[in-house]
Amino acid sequence: MRMFDPVEAVKEFIRHPSVSTDAQFAEGMEGARAHVVGLLKDMGLAVEVIATPLHPVVIAKRRGQPDWPHVVIYGHYDVQPADPLDLWETPAFEPIIREGRLYGRGAADNKGPMMVHIAAAARLLEKHPDLPLNLTFLIEGEEEIGSPSFAEVLANHAEDLRGDFVLLSDTQSPSTEQLALTVALRGIVSLEVEVFGPKGDLHSGLHGGAVYNPIQALTEICASLHNADGSVAIPGFYDAVAEVESWEREEIDKLGNDLEAYRDSIGVAGFLPGRGMSPFEVTRLLPTLEFNGIGGGYQGMGEKTIIPSRAFAKITCRLVANQDPVEIERLVHRAIEDRCPPEVRLKIRRGHAGGPYRVVPPDRANTPADQNAHLATAFRAAESAIAHIFGRPPLYLSEGGSVPIISEINRVLGMDCVMLGMFTPLDNLHAPNEGFDLELFRKGIDVSERILAGVAGV
Ligand code: BES
Ligand code: MN
Repeated sequence: MRMFDPVEAVKEFIRHPSVSTDAQFAEGMEGARAHVVGLLKDMGLAVEVIATPLHPVVIAKRRGQPDWPHVVIYGHYDVQPADPLDLWETPAFEPIIREGRLYGRGAADNKGPMMVHIAAAARLLEKHPDLPLNLTFLIEGEEEIGSPSFAEVLANHAEDLRGDFVLLSDTQSPSTEQLALTVALRGIVSLEVEVFGPKGDLHSGLHGGAVYNPIQALTEICASLHNADGSVAIPGFYDAVAEVESWEREEIDKLGNDLEAYRDSIGVAGFLPGRGMSPFEVTRLLPTLEFNGIGGGYQGMGEKTIIPSRAFAKITCRLVANQDPVEIERLVHRAIEDRCPPEVRLKIRRGHAGGPYRVVPPDRANTPADQNAHLATAFRAAESAIAHIFGRPPLYLSEGGSVPIISEINRVLGMDCVMLGMFTPLDNLHAPNEGFDLELFRKGIDVSERILAGVAGV
């Protein structure tokens, strides 16, 4: 077999518009899946496509001796919608290289970074056809919609999937020069709150003053959910939050942390006080409650004097280590119920949920070194490969984003993760003009190859 061209493979991947949230993209989902299946089959792996109620999961296996190390590589072939389309400089699903960067929806999240590991494994297996390594690719198509089918696939294939650790790239590095090994992901719970008042919109002149306006009730509830310092005003919300260890804050401090540059880059006037933590720390180390959307009443041109019949808010919480998404959902649900006035009706719908995840890399001062040997080998191989290839060792960074199934893999299969940050703040994830640095891509493949070689002992 001849090694495929990794850049061409990502370009072809992007040409399949695999938007998991929109049924109109079924063909793109199928095409993207077939593409990755093809690559894995060409590597000589045994590929299974596992049907689910929604988007199938791809499992590809290379099995040798049972006592060989077993690495599971995770990725997702689905992408976010490309909207708003008119803000793209070139069409979202027509990959194009400009100034060393590959542009297209999914270039960075997660098609390029996933290809890092597929290419690395392919190259290593080409060099060492007898490589003493069991390898499993676990590639899903529902990450961007909260992985609703994933838990069941994990449970049904637990024996096949239980390796020594998971290797993945679906997190961020500070820059193309400074790589991160991600040591924590935030969990997430999502809720949609609806408040109902009168059975239809009312004339505010005829009924105003007598009726509790649902927008008022909803915004009063929402306003009660935070304290002045930005912390969440729900009893018990912080109870389970794990103590942050000094090394975690030290790693974040090494980022340089230019507050003004951060402020200007996102265009805000200032930051929340943050209870003794900097904005760089709170976004990685503390839980949140956010309003993602709110609506109700008249949204058209001009004015309309009504009391609307309904108002809604979409809420998500990001969770940190030790917080249980089921418990947090319950606390938030109850707080909203408690604060809802009796003159309106309340409906709360729960969305997807996923736990937080945290791993302690080897050699961290105040933590016992009782982890599995292959995981430790992988971390050390990653650190030395990054130091060699990038000229600086990685930072061990906690991450503010979520990959909810990672905690599920950890819970169900007991596996920890080595997460190599392969996209950067310049990459426009989930936004127009998503791009991926090709020099970082090439170096990433080298890093991944060294990790796999290190674990295999070649
Ligand atoms: N790759 C991201 C997660 C991510 C983003 C990690 C930024 C680190 C930095 C992932 O594909 C993603 O977008 N996850 C969603 C999960 C949600 C849809 C359940 C997220 O974090 O919002
Ligand atoms: Mn994403």
